[in-house]
Amino acid sequence: MSENKRERYIDKAEETVRNGESEDDVILNLRLRPESLKDFIGQDEVLGMLEIALKAAIKRDEPIEHLLFSGPPGLGKTSLAHIIARERRTKIVTTSGPAIERAGDLVGILTNLSEGDILFIDEIHRLSRVVEEFIYPAMENFQIDFLVDKGPYARTIKFNLKTFTLIGATTRAGLLSAPLRDRFGMSLHLDFYSPEDLASVVRRSAGLLGIPIDEDGAAEIARRSRGTPRIANRLLRRVRDWVQVKSDGSITRERTVRALESHGIDEMGLARLDRKLLDIIFASYNGGPVGVAALASSLNEETDTIEEVVEPYLLMAGLLRRTPRGRELTDQGYKYLGKHAKIKHDLF
Ligand SMILES: Nc1ncnc2c1ncn2[C@@H]1O[C@H](COP(=O)(O)OP(=O)(O)O)[C@@H](O)[C@H]1O
Ligand SMILES: [Mg+2]
Repeated sequence: MSENKRERYIDKAEETVRNGESEDDVILNLRLRPESLKDFIGQDEVLGMLEIALKAAIKRDEPIEHLLFSGPPGLGKTSLAHIIARERRTKIVTTSGPAIERAGDLVGILTNLSEGDILFIDEIHRLSRVVEEFIYPAMENFQIDFLVDKGPYARTIKFNLKTFTLIGATTRAGLLSAPLRDRFGMSLHLDFYSPEDLASVVRRSAGLLGIPIDEDGAAEIARRSRGTPRIANRLLRRVRDWVQVKSDGSITRERTVRALESHGIDEMGLARLDRKLLDIIFASYNGGPVGVAALASSLNEETDTIEEVVEPYLLMAGLLRRTPRGRELTDQGYKYLGKHAKIKHDLF
């Protein structure tokens, strides 16, 4: 890949990870990131397994085994990696799949790790094949082979690493090669949060930011957050701004509804791009099925953005269905469009 192309690729990947967040949203999320397992809301099954793995590792006085977190953006994968480092009181070094261009980029990082340190690789499904193969022996035997000299004098040198822990995060576990997946001791999948858990996230964040909010207000923000804590925090911020300008600064259900409708966020939390996607399947493809590449080009978006950011929630919410021939609207999808069609066209 050329330098330029790779740079654009990295930009795109970062954009996808941030999911349309502004700089302020990024800073806010850092402030609101849970710092211990006790702070971390929901995902009970994942937390249960993590707790056992952590305790067992402490008991054996060994580094925790390599972990893979998968799931849609904004559900807490990065937060969990940092929590584990904090619980184990170890250093965490973070990088991402697209940022590691050559195997050589990793040599410095790996050889600088001390016993028990954590290497966090975000978007690990985007590692190049060459880099991936370089990582296998590092994960397996804590050794790396590197090539010195060229041509007939080329030889490989083995280098011993300290026993570190690799934590990978991915929005697309399915894209990980089998050999890489197999080298993780544990693979943990994060799913969308329940409205109750999200309401707890909203109350916790409001508490940390000193924003007055009642139960109904928290529940309403939760309902519109697409099962995603990162979105819940973003909406909380929008609603806070609104109530500070338009009322006394405290959040209620009614004010939440008005604030979020003014941003085009409806009662299911769908935003412009989600609605456009459903709309295009209906209007241009007769309700589907339509392939994701065709959809992406109609929307003028990357297929990755469609598959990683937009689709998962629409599938979970039952508005969209995946079939071998492509994406299709469900009955609920049609109903949703009918309800929201009043502005643009008179469909039903
Ligand atoms: N379980 C949780 N409890 C409270 N806040 C959470 C939780 N999970 C995520 N968050 C919030 O959402 C933000 C995004 O989470 P992050 O770990 O960056 O997600 P991911 O890495 O999966 O995209 C965090 O900064 C934090 O504010
Ligand atoms: Mg992350």
